[in-house]
Amino acid sequence: MILSSLLCFAASAASLTLDIASSGGNQSSSLLYGLLYEDIYHSGDGGLYGEMLRNRAFQGSSSDGAASLARNTDYWHPVGGVSLAIDKSSPAISSSLPYQMRMDVPAGTTGTVGFYNEGFWGFDVDATKRYIASLHMRGDYSGAVNCYFYSTTTGQVLGSTSMGIHQTSSAGWVQSYSATFQPSKTGSDGNNTFYFTFDGSKLAGKSVYFNVFSLFKQTFDNRINGVREDLADALLNMNSKYIRLPGGNNMEGNSSPYEWKWNETIGSLLDRPGRPGTWGDINTDGFGLLEMMQMAQDLGVEVILGIWAGLYLDGQVVSQANLKPYVDSVMNELEFLLGDKTTTYGAKRAALGFPSPFTIKWIEIGNEDYLNGGTNSYYSYRFMAFYNAIHAVYPSINLVSTINPNPVNSNGSSLDLHIYGNENYFVSLFNTFDQASRKYPVFINEYAATNTGSNNIGQVGAQTLGMSCAEAIFLLGCERNSDVIVGSAYGALIKNYNEAPDTVAVIKHTANEVLYTISYYVQKVFADHMGTRTLPVTATNGGFGPVYWSGTANSSSTILKLVNYNGKTGSSNAVQVNVKGSSKNIATLITLTAPSSTSVNNLPSLGGESSTITTTTLSGSAGSFSISFSKPYEIAVLVV
Ligand SMILES: *[C@@H]1O[C@H](CO)[C@@H](O)[C@H](O)[C@H]1NC(C)=O
Ligand SMILES: *[C@@H]1O[C@H](CO)[C@@H](O)[C@H](O)[C@H]1NC(C)=O
Ligand SMILES: *[C@@H]1O[C@H](CO)[C@@H](O)[C@H](O)[C@H]1NC(C)=O
Ligand SMILES: *[C@@H]1O[C@H](CO)[C@@H](O)[C@H](O)[C@H]1NC(C)=O
Ligand SMILES: *[C@@H]1O[C@H](CO)[C@@H](O)[C@H](O)[C@H]1NC(C)=O
Repeated sequence: MILSSLLCFAASAASLTLDIASSGGNQSSSLLYGLLYEDIYHSGDGGLYGEMLRNRAFQGSSSDGAASLARNTDYWHPVGGVSLAIDKSSPAISSSLPYQMRMDVPAGTTGTVGFYNEGFWGFDVDATKRYIASLHMRGDYSGAVNCYFYSTTTGQVLGSTSMGIHQTSSAGWVQSYSATFQPSKTGSDGNNTFYFTFDGSKLAGKSVYFNVFSLFKQTFDNRINGVREDLADALLNMNSKYIRLPGGNNMEGNSSPYEWKWNETIGSLLDRPGRPGTWGDINTDGFGLLEMMQMAQDLGVEVILGIWAGLYLDGQVVSQANLKPYVDSVMNELEFLLGDKTTTYGAKRAALGFPSPFTIKWIEIGNEDYLNGGTNSYYSYRFMAFYNAIHAVYPSINLVSTINPNPVNSNGSSLDLHIYGNENYFVSLFNTFDQASRKYPVFINEYAATNTGSNNIGQVGAQTLGMSCAEAIFLLGCERNSDVIVGSAYGALIKNYNEAPDTVAVIKHTANEVLYTISYYVQKVFADHMGTRTLPVTATNGGFGPVYWSGTANSSSTILKLVNYNGKTGSSNAVQVNVKGSSKNIATLITLTAPSSTSVNNLPSLGGESSTITTTTLSGSAGSFSISFSKPYEIAVLVV
């Protein structure tokens, strides 16, 4: 971006000129920029959820990319000649977790024995942070358990702690916690493992049993069983206004009876069986309903609650005759979240440490219920069964349909459209909502440009500047129509880089790094500068394309967002902006760009970010300013 001087005002008569009216627009949605959370490719387990040990409670496995209830000791490795096996002997730690890991120690053993865990593609070992480990054990052992990080890159122990156990077989299960510890060294990378070791001479010839291990690094806002700090900070910095949870296809389940069940994600971790997730791995459900609500509170965002509406992803649908228990379960969930502590379920919430009811204004009935033949049953009974039950008890909650049009089609209802496509398609969506019906609010609770240009085969692994600018153009269209488009959220929000390098997400992570895509910065810059009302903008010497725009205002500022999409650069092509009624001579200009339309951001260790954000002060005269782009693909936000 080239700073303009006053002289630019005399620029060529042909430059695009935008006159922003001071009134005449519509109220805009305060929710416009939001988030979709579902556990997809380790957004939850091994992602936001702070648990660092993988397969901590032997809840199931993943093979050939599909989650199953087959149990194994994957991600655990024996140390000191022991063998590790899945075991189902009694007593189990709980009825929800019937499988445990058995360690058989050969007779005559004298040295150190135990096992180590691989983590989710390693561990973040950070000498500036606190960690705590724990486990449950059954068997005879009196002695120390040494716990430590080990770098497979450098061969060094990076930090250790210990716990003591004094247990006999007949006493059943015992839980033991380590002392809180800070690693002595920060790992040079994420390739670290975590060890639990025992005195082998005390276990020689014996078998001992383990379940519900845990290792946490200090979490966002120091919550117990909370979320990973760097990822939560990334969400916080997006300045989003709502989060839709818990999904997404993952809520639906691949087949019966594996829909997300709220009542199996609360309370003690010992009472959470977990379930085969949609995206290839088991969900531990450690990041349960209350943990998600807590995170939303800590992020300061509203919740759009997704409820399962009777459709499994394999196309199986709950019949009308059999639907009632599922509706009842949702009503119980709502009492759990919204009821005061004198209600049955409100009391359960209070007992779990949340005396005050939550606030929920939007409930989304299902997810993509048109999938696999779901449309007919959605219209004929599924939507209405949930709508009627919820509306009768909570008349002020707005009920969101996942199929267009909303079956109820009245006030108090709204719609969620999901939009995926290539870059060119997203550019073409710019004016798609200009003539949209204003009957009820519309969310775009999932969108993403998944490929460059007009390419339709597969997805790219990282959003290019061109794709991100196309998404920005689409968002301008939403913002110009934000009297009816009330929210937007990119799908997917977070993915593990190691697992899903080939598909798009706003944020990707490894054990110890975070990748902020250019889409991330588009959403952040747009959310950081959003007015409370739209303003009419009149163009002369040009129309939409290659420059696109949207004007909004709040009580103190006028905000003009611009996207240059394969457009001209330099002061001779500057856009002249006149804010009617303004006497301001100074404005702030925020720009987002990268070297070329194909530029992408990467992990810090793989080259880092190509995109840059600059903030400059722009001089003008009585509300008139000149904006010149420095790159053919560039986003600019002018705040007057
Ligand atoms: C305000 O909303 C109406 C539709 O209700 C639309 O036609 C008009 O363009 C909007 N005005 C602005 C400035 O966005
Ligand atoms: C770290 O682990 C990754 C795979 O998880 C591997 O590709 C990489 O080579 C490892 N780096 C080192 C230094 O061992
Ligand atoms: C949770 O609710 C479902 C009904 O949606 C029920 O089938 C299941 O048994 C419940 N689980 C527990 C642990 O109560
Ligand atoms: C529906 O509209 C009526 C009349 O405008 C209003 O009183 C009521 O609060 C609205 N209901 C909802 C759920 O928005
Ligand atoms: C209006 O928007 C500008 C730009 O985002 C912001 O700096 C300012 O704080 C906002 N003013 C109010 C009153 O919200």
